[in-house]
Amino acid sequence: MPRDCRMIELPRVQDARGNLTFIESLRHVPFAFQRVYWIYDVPGGERRGGHAYRTANEFLIALSGSFDVVFDDGSASQVITLNRSYFGIFVPKLVWRHLQNFSTNAVCLVMASTPFTESDYIRDYSEFKEVTSAS
Ligand code: TYD
Repeated sequence: MPRDCRMIELPRVQDARGNLTFIESLRHVPFAFQRVYWIYDVPGGERRGGHAYRTANEFLIALSGSFDVVFDDGSASQVITLNRSYFGIFVPKLVWRHLQNFSTNAVCLVMASTPFTESDYIRDYSEFKEVTSAS
């Protein structure tokens, strides 16, 4: 998997009344999170993402439904399907990613290590290649 990306299985409290999963900052994910956002109501065939972050680490979960995460760290790329609400993927800084193949009603929950900062985005792929080849 590209540069330190990894799947992380979260705790599951299974119960006949319904299951429960939780995440604690720095315990279940290897960074402290300062922001949570979610992507939903994605029309069929649309893509999200298509960028990397200079400093932010993220953890992505398919809270509902499924989608594919396509990664690229400048030297390797890989596609991972997320389709369970108790598995997430850790995507560290400087990994290019986009999300595609959203199922109907898919919800992507993201924990991020930083507040929203547009200047932290690398949205230009050739700039991403320059930054990653220098690092
Ligand atoms: P962006 O991160 O580019 O979306 P994608 O999920 O496709 O990568 O964000 C889309 C827009 O939403 C952009 O104008 C910035 C804004 N935004 C915020 O204001 N706060 C946030 O926490 C995020 C993630 C995005």
